[in-house]
Amino acid sequence: MSWNPSSWRSLPIKQVPAYPDAQRVSQVEATLGKKPPLVFAGEVQNLRSQLGNVAEGKAFLLQGGDCAESFAEFSADMIRDSFKVFLQMAVVLTFGASLPVVKVGRMAGQFAKPRSADMESIDGIELPSYRGDMVNAIEFTEAARIPDPDRLLRVYEQSASTLNLLRAFAQGGMADLTEVHKWNLDFINDTAQAERFSELSARIDECLHFMKACGVNSKTARALSETDFFTSHEALLLNYEEALTRQDTITAEKGWYTTSAHMVWIGDRTRQFDHAHVEYMRGISNPIGLKCGPSMELDDLKRLIEALNPENTPGRLTLISRMGADHVTAKLPPIVEAVKEMGASVVWCCDPMHGNTVKASNGYKTRRVNDVMREVSGFFDVHDALGTYPGGVHFEMTGQNVTECLGGVVDVTEAKLGDRYHTHCDPRLNAGQSLELAFLLADLMKRRRDKNAELRQAS
Ligand code: PEP
Ligand code: CO
Repeated sequence: MSWNPSSWRSLPIKQVPAYPDAQRVSQVEATLGKKPPLVFAGEVQNLRSQLGNVAEGKAFLLQGGDCAESFAEFSADMIRDSFKVFLQMAVVLTFGASLPVVKVGRMAGQFAKPRSADMESIDGIELPSYRGDMVNAIEFTEAARIPDPDRLLRVYEQSASTLNLLRAFAQGGMADLTEVHKWNLDFINDTAQAERFSELSARIDECLHFMKACGVNSKTARALSETDFFTSHEALLLNYEEALTRQDTITAEKGWYTTSAHMVWIGDRTRQFDHAHVEYMRGISNPIGLKCGPSMELDDLKRLIEALNPENTPGRLTLISRMGADHVTAKLPPIVEAVKEMGASVVWCCDPMHGNTVKASNGYKTRRVNDVMREVSGFFDVHDALGTYPGGVHFEMTGQNVTECLGGVVDVTEAKLGDRYHTHCDPRLNAGQSLELAFLLADLMKRRRDKNAELRQAS
């Protein structure tokens, strides 16, 4: 079956905005088509090869960031703080698991949201749902909820600025391991997590001093002074992706890439194998993610894997399981078994957020940190039992001191949810809660390593 960047247009599609002005949509698409790419094919191939290492159990994937980026929550400080938390999580894991960590932000393009309901009702008034700043505005008025194609251009511009700063942070000194103490954010200073992080930083410092004495320092070893940081988002608005799809003319592969981000994923609501989203994604060469919720059927999964990774390239496909804490140990094993039986190479990644969204008694959409932790632990248990590799996590977080998820070291209670509830869509882990997740992951990885070492010794 032939593919081109617009072949998805002849197939059924879900979650598309109803734009009132089709002509303006075409103009915007044409403008986007002339914009420079945000990422380069060589970088995308680098990520794919790093994810190939994850698929083979030699690295760990950390993928996270906002549920929905927004035009309002856009500033250098916000990007810096999210990036710092990301670095903290990564270093906790690298140290705890003794494995390289592949860092992929839900950043610089994560603006469009799939919705379960087309309409939203408040006090008897019904309006179209908010679909992310890429589509319409969050205010609950009729005018705000009309989809506006010019928002695609604004998303492109904001993504370009965000990515520019992320590249500067990753390569311009902020990620230098000798700066590890400075990644801690002031507002989590007095928590047990911060103390644990500070102990770990001291140990890292000691290692760095030793290495310096041996002649290895951040001037001689790039890996100590900078890091690779990649971007990703849900490829929901295919006209945006199509406009940024370019054929690689520089590297030997000559494939088609979406240049909107290094990695893109298919959401749980748009993964029908004979629909538009799967059609578009099968033709691009970027690493892609596929969300697998509790309604995933095994036959569909097999067809999806065949369509999306026909060459069985390691690192091409990441299966992002989001079953919910109560279901992961029952729902995930048949999926893992089926993939094993196919001999398919995938990265197994756990999204412990989207299956654990609940409504608090005061109406806030929230998640319990405890459920997040339980799903991650359950995910590890399943892979331990089946002999497969739990390769990564996918989470929603921010570097801000928000009160959106319940629990954690600085206990966010239902009564406190309203204090700093800023998200444009789903509740995010704050910096302390994110660090807690990283320490749990480090412990789980260490448990695996010890168990494997024991097994090797016994045999
Ligand atoms: C998301 O990751 O923001 C999302 C909507 O997830 P899912 O498609 O798994 O519901
Ligand atoms: Co979300």
